[in-house]
Amino acid sequence: MGNGSLIHTAKKVVGKAILAADESTETIRKRLATIGVDSTPEINRQYRQLLFTATGIEKYISGVILYDETIRQTSDDGIPFPKLLSGKGIVPGIKVDKGAVKIPGKNSDTFTQGLDGLGKRLTEYKELGACFAKWRAVYTIADDGPSLIAIERNAHDLALYALICQDVGIVPIIEPEVLMDGDHSFEKNKQLTIKILTAVFVQARKYSVDLSGVILKPNMITAGKNNSRQKNIGTVAETTLQVLNKVVPAEVAGVAFLSGGQSPPLATDHLNMINKIRNRLKKSYPGKITASYGRALQGETLEAWAGKKENVTKAQRVFISRAEKVYKAGLGQL
Ligand code: 13P
Repeated sequence: MGNGSLIHTAKKVVGKAILAADESTETIRKRLATIGVDSTPEINRQYRQLLFTATGIEKYISGVILYDETIRQTSDDGIPFPKLLSGKGIVPGIKVDKGAVKIPGKNSDTFTQGLDGLGKRLTEYKELGACFAKWRAVYTIADDGPSLIAIERNAHDLALYALICQDVGIVPIIEPEVLMDGDHSFEKNKQLTIKILTAVFVQARKYSVDLSGVILKPNMITAGKNNSRQKNIGTVAETTLQVLNKVVPAEVAGVAFLSGGQSPPLATDHLNMINKIRNRLKKSYPGKITASYGRALQGETLEAWAGKKENVTKAQRVFISRAEKVYKAGLGQL
């Protein structure tokens, strides 16, 4: 039997779409640079405020992942962002990993930092209003990778992170991301994603993680972005769903895909097709299948905003329009 309050929170987080607004200092700098804006804590705050105060956000977004800087910031009216979100019925979450670093001698393989002091940090984040957390492991497909060492190491760390979260009463999002970078084939992505997710759930069970209080954030199955042979939407959706049905235990509270560099329309269409196919199947993973997009929910909004005050209302409309589509795609109703 699972912990009732973790299950309840997890189901609430995946009820609609999740907005990943947890770009690290370095990543938000890169994102803002694409629109010619210099990142500062104040500019980052104004941008996140634009997203969180968009009229109607709560109709389409059920959870927002924050970054350490953002969870401590407030709106112009002095309302802490976690409180502003929970006031709208949106569950605040927090990115708790400290980024991927190379495993020496293993080429493109990485492991993720952040386990030291994690319990203490989670306790503070909980006091600040976070109810769920996110930890991202990264896998690069290359001729010699990812290695078994990287797969096993990341599976252990994801499981231990999840266990520590649940001990503190926080719902863990487990994010093993196979990157789209490279020219690898669709089939190779499929086989490696199966291997990686299988390893993650083997360790999660060994560590006695309560899977009914876990959200999985996986990649979809696509060819590498430099591969000229991309599969159509139906094939990506069907194969991605097959992989989920093969490896994700039925108890897992929900699945929320990352967008991984797919355009907003394509990431939306893939999710929609996955749910359309799932809705027709008699037997399939029974939990919610939704999105936890960063770039695919924000890309168009960033462009519409361009860092200008006079564009805020327009950018908020653009954001809500994409959020509505992603929400409907989470139901297979686009
Ligand atoms: P993208 O949707 O931009 O891939 O971001 C999701 C995320 O949270 C990566 O950790």
